[in-house]
Amino acid sequence: MPGTKLITIERHILEQQARFPHATGEFTSLLYDIALAAKLISRETNRAGLANILGKAGTQNVQGEQQELLDVYANQIIVRMLNHTGRVCIMASEEDPDPIFIPATYKRGNYVVLFDPLDGSSNIDYNVSVGTIFSIHRHVTPDLYDCGLPDLLQPGRRLVAAGYIVYGSSTMMVYSAGNGVAGFTLDPSVGEFLLSHEEIRAPDNPKYYSVNQGYERFWLEAVRQYVKWITGMKEDEPRKALSARYIGSMVSDFHRNLIAGGIFLYPADTRDKARPMGKLRLNYECAPLAYIMEQAGGAASDGIHRILDIVPQSLHQRTPFFCGNKDLVAKMEEYFQHYNPEWVEALQERVQLVT
Ligand code: AHG
Ligand code: MN
Ligand code: MN
Repeated sequence: MPGTKLITIERHILEQQARFPHATGEFTSLLYDIALAAKLISRETNRAGLANILGKAGTQNVQGEQQELLDVYANQIIVRMLNHTGRVCIMASEEDPDPIFIPATYKRGNYVVLFDPLDGSSNIDYNVSVGTIFSIHRHVTPDLYDCGLPDLLQPGRRLVAAGYIVYGSSTMMVYSAGNGVAGFTLDPSVGEFLLSHEEIRAPDNPKYYSVNQGYERFWLEAVRQYVKWITGMKEDEPRKALSARYIGSMVSDFHRNLIAGGIFLYPADTRDKARPMGKLRLNYECAPLAYIMEQAGGAASDGIHRILDIVPQSLHQRTPFFCGNKDLVAKMEEYFQHYNPEWVEALQERVQLVT
């Protein structure tokens, strides 16, 4: 615990706001609304079994994946919490194919919110930690009533804030508004997020690597060689082996690696020709986590490019994702250049970067 002070998330956000003398409080309130939505989702995930709401909703989301009931619930909570406050002009969610517009009866505000309401939801039935991820941009369309795709498709480097909530053995919210990374733990008895991790820094001495090793046969040579290297099995490049940890809920894998040090990998592979860009979504999964990792002193890449420099071309765009300790990410990039130059070239053609 930092010092003797007890600091709620509200107080922390307000103190951050004091750094900007012209701030109106709109952004502060938006972050607080997200924290409130997180408390409701946390309550529901905690009693999922009791409330008999486990299982599939019977519908599919835009990626053709089964929607879990809690996916649908979490999505609705976030939309209903944010769409009427006059702080947001447009939103997008993993669970909705199209942008989420603000109903005409409500005022619009300056912020654009993208989110994955429940990350790792295929794990819910097994009582494994899941999470929520969010990105916040400022609108770029001059008239708030004309906001649309250009507001949603901004590169990660323009993020105003990003964060995640992990519903684990305790519920934690971690966010950055461009001034480092702070983490808060929910005290469920009083319903407050209390500052528990004041300045999160990615440790220089990493411990873990996280990748779905079950797909090894589909990996590109660079990834295969990299995992050999990271587990200390390359005779020409000896190193201390990292331990493997893979939950299959990215928020949880990311959170552990952020605190303990390491690298998370979700590469593109040769398994599915229709998905040459891997599985994870750029705008509401990878960019926000990349932002937090950079704010904590780490790095995030698609194997060649900095994730935050990628200009999204579509809402649900996918990207390969390598995120964690700076040196480990740089080494992955080096391996792609060395072992799969043809893939590097193909990716360069697909990806548009900030100029
Ligand atoms: P979501 O539940 O939002 O669809 O995301 C699941 C993601 C991510 O959390 C996790 O890292 C990855 O899927 C796991 O995929 P594999 O089972 O292919 O490893
Ligand atoms: Mn997800
Ligand atoms: Mn999800």
